[in-house]
Amino acid sequence: MEMERTFVMIKPDAVKRNLIGQIISRFELRGLKIIGMKMLKMDRETAEKLYAEHQGKPFFQELVSYITSGPVVTMVIEGDGVVQLIRKMIGNTDPKESPPGTIRGDMALSKSENAIHASDSPEKALREMSIFFTEKELLQ
Ligand code: PPS
Repeated sequence: MEMERTFVMIKPDAVKRNLIGQIISRFELRGLKIIGMKMLKMDRETAEKLYAEHQGKPFFQELVSYITSGPVVTMVIEGDGVVQLIRKMIGNTDPKESPPGTIRGDMALSKSENAIHASDSPEKALREMSIFFTEKELLQ
């Protein structure tokens, strides 16, 4: 079994609506292991770093303002094939295109207030988790 790690973030809309427990319980029920977790309010510099690939897109400033508008819960989750598995569990960016049963299909409000972020490749996972966690902060 090949262990993999991914970066997951519960976004401000979901934190505000008290959905942290419900979201985390889906990962726990699926047998995935949370090996790091922090609740924090991001500054603009960190947000711009996290979303660097979207710099220049029309929604970039709105995205940075939204993600810095309230606390988020950042996590590193470990499991077999966890990057793709969690992408499947969260659903599409747009909740209208996310089937019921996915986190966004059940909980997201819009394309921006869409409850959760998860890395879309193992390479991105490494980059994104290193913005918020040092290796020492992760359970071995
Ligand atoms: S793209 O251009 O297809 O790569 O973008 P997409 O994957 O759809 O979205 C990337 C992230 O930007 C957020 N997003 C938005 N935020 C604010 N306003 C608008 N209009 C908007 N559209 C997309 C979206 O929630 C994605 O966030 P993450 O955290 O990566 O899921």
